[in-house]
Amino acid sequence: MSNFTIHDFLKKKKDGKKITMLTAYDYPFARILDEAGIDAILVGDSLGMVVQGLDNTLPVTMDEMIYHTKMVTRGVQNAMVIGDMPFMSYHTGIDDAVRNAGRFLKEAGASAVKMEGGAEIVDHIKAMARADIPVMAHIGLTPQSIHRMGGYKVQGKTEEAANRLIEEAHAVEDAGAFSLLLEAIPMSLSRLISADLSIPTIGIGAGPHCDGQILVLHDVIGLFERFVPKFVKKYADVKMDALSAIREYKDDIEKGIFPAEEQSFK
Ligand code: KIV
Repeated sequence: MSNFTIHDFLKKKKDGKKITMLTAYDYPFARILDEAGIDAILVGDSLGMVVQGLDNTLPVTMDEMIYHTKMVTRGVQNAMVIGDMPFMSYHTGIDDAVRNAGRFLKEAGASAVKMEGGAEIVDHIKAMARADIPVMAHIGLTPQSIHRMGGYKVQGKTEEAANRLIEEAHAVEDAGAFSLLLEAIPMSLSRLISADLSIPTIGIGAGPHCDGQILVLHDVIGLFERFVPKFVKKYADVKMDALSAIREYKDDIEKGIFPAEEQSFK
């Protein structure tokens, strides 16, 4: 059970303090994020790309999401854990949506779920609210809609598209979402939406005016290099550090340096 709750999300917005989020998919990184004081961890279906090596998030299953969410919740003491509803876990109807969302709380120990969508998930959000399952909605670039969108493109650039996103933001707030993730939209639009809503907005590629920020962990620490979006800031090069450590280990074995006496039993 985490200490940071949906009430802290709202309080941080009221107090004008930024909400800090990252994704994580396993126990060791969940522990590191928690120790660093990150407010909330999203077990994102981005794990399909950065952990499973898939081309997109569509094949990720509910069972895989539960498996990874369990590992993450075991690693945290303070951060709130949010499970990401994968493709086809809520598109087939409200009952399926509530049942699958419930699995994140019941089986994996998450405190909330995230769902991609605006107006089309209003009834899902209401049903989840009735089941006491807090929902973070996700609009703008929604990677599960990659085929409809024709690729990973910035959304809300025309006046009509921007107005639609503003309407969707209000619709999910009115339905009972506790927060709203805004992905890849112009910063002027996210500023407007963030000022308009009373629930906090969390941005990824949505500029500095959101109430909080999230990035994919593997992008931030340099563990995923196949595709790095413009909005990513890389804070470490863990791949290069791991590569040189493993090369040194291999070298030591080949030269007879490892194991030495201190790693051996007498
Ligand atoms: O799946 C994910 O990690 C996400 C982030 C990109 C916000 O939805």
